[in-house]
Amino acid sequence: MSSIVIVGAQWGDEGKGKIVDVLTERADWVVRFQGGNNAGHTIVVDGVKTALSLLPSGILRPHVKCLLGAGVVLNPTVLLSEIDRVRAAGANISPGRLVIDRDAHLVLDYHVLVDKARELARGASKIGTTGRGIGPAYEDRSQRSGIRCADLLHPARMRERVRAHVDEKNKMLKLILESKAHVDFDEVWGRLEQEAAILAPFVGNGSRLIFDALRAGERVIFEGAQGVLLDQVHGTYPYVTSSSTIAGSATVGVGIGPKMINSVLGIAKAYCTRVGEGPFPTEMVGDLGDDVRTRGREFGTITGRPRRCGWFDAVAMKRAIRTSGIDSVILTKLDVLSGLPTLKLCTSYMRGGEVVDDLPPSVEDYEGLEADYLEVAGWSEDISGVRTWDALPRNVRAFVETLSKLIECPVSFVSVGPGREATIPVAPPSVVKEFMA
Ligand code: GDP
Ligand code: IMO
Ligand code: MG
Repeated sequence: MSSIVIVGAQWGDEGKGKIVDVLTERADWVVRFQGGNNAGHTIVVDGVKTALSLLPSGILRPHVKCLLGAGVVLNPTVLLSEIDRVRAAGANISPGRLVIDRDAHLVLDYHVLVDKARELARGASKIGTTGRGIGPAYEDRSQRSGIRCADLLHPARMRERVRAHVDEKNKMLKLILESKAHVDFDEVWGRLEQEAAILAPFVGNGSRLIFDALRAGERVIFEGAQGVLLDQVHGTYPYVTSSSTIAGSATVGVGIGPKMINSVLGIAKAYCTRVGEGPFPTEMVGDLGDDVRTRGREFGTITGRPRRCGWFDAVAMKRAIRTSGIDSVILTKLDVLSGLPTLKLCTSYMRGGEVVDDLPPSVEDYEGLEADYLEVAGWSEDISGVRTWDALPRNVRAFVETLSKLIECPVSFVSVGPGREATIPVAPPSVVKEFMA
C-alpha cells in the first residue's frame, strides 16, 4: 500500500497538476477529493499543454485509473466537454478508467447563477470567486438537499427535487439577490436527462474501490485542488473556497481512514500568488508585481484572471505544513526568479512593533500588518534547462536551503519549467520514489 496526498500549500495554482502528472509514472490511481471546476490544473508533455478542471491529472497516463471522489462537486456539462476535449487529444476515457463517486454532488446551472449574482450583490466586499457555482453547490450539500451522482442512475427520482431547486433558486435570485437571472426548469432538466444517460456508466463506489486498491498494494495519489490557505476553515476566511483543502480532506472526501495515507507533499511556488480578493501580506506592489506576473505567466488556467504576485511567505507556509501534516515541499517556478538581483523571504509579520507569528484570524487584523523579510542574493542564470541539483547555480541552492530552514521542512523536488522533464529531485521521501520509474 502506497499513497500520497498532494496539496497546494499556498493560495492555489502552485503547480499541483504538473507534479501529480510527474509522479504518476508508476501510480495506479489518481483521485480528486474536493473542489470542482474552480480548479485549473496544467500539464505540459512534450511541449503540449493540457488544462484540466475536473479530470484528475493522471488522465494522460493510459495505465492510470482516475476517480472523482465523493467530496468533489461536479458540473456534468463541464465534465462532458472536458472528456471530449481530452479524448480528442488522444486519451482513452472509458468507464472503469474514470470513475465518478456516486456520493459526489452535482453543480447545476442555478448554482452558477447564484454564485455570480451573490458576488455582484456583495459589491466591494466580493470574494472574487471563480463564478463556477462551487459555493452554492456545497451549500445545498450542507443543507441536505443536493443532487448527487447516484441520482444520475435514476433520473425519474431526481426530477421533482431539481424542480424544487429551480423554484427556490429563482426566488432567491429575484427576491434576495435582486438579480435578473432566471433558471428555466425545462432547459436544466432536458440537458441533465441527456447527460445522466452518458455519465451513468461512470458512476461507482469510490470509497470501496480505493480501499480495495490500497489493500491490494496499489499506488494511489490523492490530488488536492486549490490550496491550504483557501481552506474553508483553516484558510484566510472569509476569502476562501467552500471546501476543505487540507490534506486530511482526502480521507473525508474519498471515504477511507487516515491511516491509509503514507505521505503528504505540499506544492509551493518559490514566490506566492493569489487570485481574487483577500489578505496577502507579502503582495508585491507596482512594477515588480507586474514583472513577476509576466515572467511567471500568472494568469488563471481556466478563467484567465491575472494573479496577484508576492514574495514567498514562510509564516503562511508553516501554517500549511502544520494543518496538512506536510512531510516535504516541492518548490515550483524557481526559473521565474532568474534575473532578480535580490530575493525576499518573509520570516514573520510585525504589527505595532510586535511580532505576529501566524496568519491572523480576521480580515480586520491585517490592518497595519507588515511582512518582515530576509533578503538573499538572486541569480542571473537561466536555469530552465538544468536537470540536476548539483548543476544548479550556488545561489539557487542557497535560496532553497535557506527557505527549507525557515519553514522547518525538507524540500524534496524543485521545478524549473512547466514540462514533466523540468523537475529536479533533491531528496524525495522513499514512498514518493515508489511512484517514479
Ligand atoms: P495548479 O492549479 O496547482 O495545478 O497550477 P496551474 O496549472 O493553475 O498553474 C501553474 C502554472 O505554472 C501552469 O501554467 C504550469 O504549466 C506552470 N508551471 C508549473 N511548474 C512550473 C515551473 O517550475 N516553472 C514554470 N515556469 N512554470 C511552471
Ligand atoms: P487550483 O486547483 C487559485 C479562489 C478564487 C477565490 C476563492 C473562492 O487551480 O489551484 P470559489 O470559486 O472556489 O468559490 O472561489 O478561491 N480559487 C482558486 N484560486 N486556484 C484555484 O484552484 C482556485 N479555486 C478557487 O479565486 O478567491
Ligand atoms: Mg490552477
